[in-house]
Amino acid sequence: MILITGASGNIGRELIRRLSEAGTPFRAGLHSPGKAAELKLPANSSAVEFDFTRPETIRAALAGVERLFLLSPSGPEMAEWEIEAVEQAGKAGVRHVVKLSAFGAQTDGFALGRLHRESEKHLLASGLAYTFLRPNTFMQNLVFLCAESVRVEGRIYLPCGDTDISHVDSRNVAEIAQRVLRDDAHFKRIYDITGPESLTCTEIARRVSTVTGKNVSYADIPPEKFHARLAAMGLPGWMVEAMVDLLAFQAEGFASAVSPAYEHVMGKAPTSFNKWIRDAAGAFA
Ligand SMILES: NC(=O)c1ccc[n+]([C@@H]2O[C@H](COP(=O)([O-])OP(=O)(O)OC[C@H]3O[C@@H](n4cnc5c(N)ncnc54)[C@H](OP(=O)(O)O)[C@@H]3O)[C@@H](O)[C@H]2O)c1
Repeated sequence: MILITGASGNIGRELIRRLSEAGTPFRAGLHSPGKAAELKLPANSSAVEFDFTRPETIRAALAGVERLFLLSPSGPEMAEWEIEAVEQAGKAGVRHVVKLSAFGAQTDGFALGRLHRESEKHLLASGLAYTFLRPNTFMQNLVFLCAESVRVEGRIYLPCGDTDISHVDSRNVAEIAQRVLRDDAHFKRIYDITGPESLTCTEIARRVSTVTGKNVSYADIPPEKFHARLAAMGLPGWMVEAMVDLLAFQAEGFASAVSPAYEHVMGKAPTSFNKWIRDAAGAFA
């Protein structure tokens, strides 16, 4: 049995959809069990309550599980929560843990990455078979960060300077998770997952213009302004600090590399920005 944590989130939902299509049985670990109905689980799969803050739910959810897809929501407790889950996984006899991490986690260069790295290190020391998936920033983040300002003002406000970033389509992350969850060949592997090209925000604005027909431009803003914009969007304080910190790290060029891992595992190229923006155009137009 495979247990999917974060099952109602971006990656989890797509992963569940793919496992369902493939007929692979799984258990969907839900923080909010009320979301089970909207996930439309197939008859060979089930939902189970899974709350990182309630160890008894982790224990119960792991009973009889062979492989664990470990994803926690970004937050200051992330490492602590995942360490507890890995402890419980060891006791439950789980064979393989696929941990959703982050691109650059090994560099120690940003707060979210340090938390992911702490969790990775614990998993490494646990003796369990592991696979680390380290995706770069999702293309989908651009909807949250920029769609409204594009719609209203035709502007993208980000503190990225002229740096390019190899954004990845989060659907590709779910796809690679599905693949590695079914095959022992991915034990002890670390996959950096990026899109097929690295783009500056100026180029992203140009491509959004082409697809939406709007005249969109990029405004490079200082970190303080970015901080204020995130706070105005209602993000929790810790998350605002973490995002400003992450984009400062990325602005130094640490998120520019294009990784061959997706193509290596999947045998095809990852989704291009042009394809993604065509799919997401409605949010920007
Ligand atoms: N966004 C990016 O660009 C990016 C890039 C690289 C890595 N990552 C990493 O990806 C992960 C986030 O993935 P995502 O975008 O798929 O997640 P997401 O959409 O933010 O969803 C988070 C999931 O965690 C669940 N959750 C919340 N509190 C929980 C708790 N106490 N116990 C158990 N589950 C809980 C949520 O359930 P409810 O909805 O029911 O609360 C939801 O299913 C983070 O670890 C982040 O650092 C993100």
